[in-house]
Amino acid sequence: MAVTTQQLIRWKQQRRPITVLTAYEYAIAQLLDQAGVDVILVGDSLAMVGLGYETTLPLTLEEMLHHAKAVRRGVKRSLLVVDLPFLTYQESPRQAIRSAGRILKETGAEAVKLEGGSPEMAETVRALVNIGIPVMGHVGLTPQSVHQFGGYRKQGKTEESAARILSEAIALQDAGAFAIVLEHIPAELAGEITQKLQVPTIGIGAGPGCDGQVLVTSDLLGLTGWQPPFAKVYADLQQTITDAVKQYCAEVQEGKFPE
Ligand code: KIV
Repeated sequence: MAVTTQQLIRWKQQRRPITVLTAYEYAIAQLLDQAGVDVILVGDSLAMVGLGYETTLPLTLEEMLHHAKAVRRGVKRSLLVVDLPFLTYQESPRQAIRSAGRILKETGAEAVKLEGGSPEMAETVRALVNIGIPVMGHVGLTPQSVHQFGGYRKQGKTEESAARILSEAIALQDAGAFAIVLEHIPAELAGEITQKLQVPTIGIGAGPGCDGQVLVTSDLLGLTGWQPPFAKVYADLQQTITDAVKQYCAEVQEGKFPE
């Protein structure tokens, strides 16, 4: 049965951990869906991991739509969530409705994700939810604010910053978000937020106390040379691909392929 946003909330109540992974193209999306991942996120990490940009900031809505459509074709069971790229929603709730509306209409995704939990962002979430667009929130280390943070640093380390992240998460829930990503914050803070919220928290670098976990799939697969310290590498595809490609080149050059 297809996963819904309501199902995620029931899983939180049942303490059934939620699995989330990123995908940017059809073949990987199909594998993740068939392997039983609950939520597939077309994250704006696409910018860095899939398109080679330095940060997530340059990613456009058109690029996101293009990739999300390909992912949709591979996803049958998982809930499909698509990130709103930088500056496609921060200007006003009206801008967010236009961008999120395009994502749902043109890609067939079930929900969008956006970063930040300021009072203005909570208003934007409310505006989207009011017209029937499900929203996943994202607080803590929000990569679209990398220049404000001065790097990809852990957030919520001081009492003041921890209190702000907690109140942002509550504000997003109250505005109607169906789940909230907690990125790179202390495990104790993530545990506290998880206990205080009725909607599920999805952690990345936020310890084991969240209702679910998300990883960037290329980190999990060892496809890139570098992974963040909190990622777990489950396979070494960089080596596997390099070996296969070298063998192919050698066999072509030696006249062994094609036979
Ligand atoms: O863009 C992304 O991949 C994300 C996840 C890491 C949560 O936002």
